[in-house]
Amino acid sequence: MSLFRIEGLVKRFGGLVATDHVNLTVERGEVHALIGPNGAGKTTLVNLITGLLKSDGGRILLDEKDIARLTDHQRVSAGMSRCFQVTRVFAKETVHDNLMLAAQAHAGSSLRFMASRSNETALTERAIALADRVGLGAERDRIAGTLPHGAQRALDVALALAANPKLLLLDEPMAGMGPDESARMVRLIDSLRAGMAILLIEHDMDAVFRLADRLTVLVQGKVLMTGTADEVRGHPDVQAVYLGTEAEGHS
Ligand SMILES: Nc1ncnc2c1ncn2[C@@H]1O[C@H](COP(=O)(O)OP(=O)(O)OP(=O)(O)O)[C@@H](O)[C@H]1O
Ligand SMILES: [Mg+2]
Repeated sequence: MSLFRIEGLVKRFGGLVATDHVNLTVERGEVHALIGPNGAGKTTLVNLITGLLKSDGGRILLDEKDIARLTDHQRVSAGMSRCFQVTRVFAKETVHDNLMLAAQAHAGSSLRFMASRSNETALTERAIALADRVGLGAERDRIAGTLPHGAQRALDVALALAANPKLLLLDEPMAGMGPDESARMVRLIDSLRAGMAILLIEHDMDAVFRLADRLTVLVQGKVLMTGTADEVRGHPDVQAVYLGTEAEGHS
């Protein structure tokens, strides 16, 4: 049974079918990449999954529960967390305080009603563990805004992990990174897969091919194919789309 499953998902913008009966599954422990040319509908699909957009049909199942009608906050509680292309780090706070705030926001009711001292201790431990998890253990006292870009993105991942997600959505985590930062992010994502399912939208094809167990190729709102890196690379239709020999004309 797949941890995450999309069935026949549809989204229309007026006459344009931006998401055209999309089916997709992500398994536990899998990194599943979503790729496709500009305008293929990747961001629309992510926004449908997270609840930023309302679908016009189809189902979105997390752990067999249909979450398509839940609000974005309810979906986070159901086990879905997202990293943002535009980072949500509080730039003037320390790394530690950013993580404390995130840990507090996602603390279960048991923690919220605990005596304040043990509550504080539990949150502090959680913040430290999250910093360690993304390789920022030595930077906890740094003001977040003074961190290099790659470290800020790692902090953004830690903020998403604070929600204890079953499914982690990564929307262009390597955007704006140099090769060293990018390699570090690849290692970080690789280290996370054991505990969750990951849906990765990324333009850096080297990173995608290194990380993804399977890829789904979207073209003009439809799934062109789902397969392993080798299957996708070898598929003539995918080569045609990326070399621009057909399927032109989207704007
Ligand atoms: N709010 C909207 N209203 C109308 N049309 C939209 C809206 N959002 C997206 N579209 C259209 O839906 C299609 C898919 O867009 P989307 O942004 O999902 O593509 P994408 O794969 O993320 O592209 P890119 O790689 O450029 O980010 C495009 O034709 C786009 O113009
Ligand atoms: Mg996009």
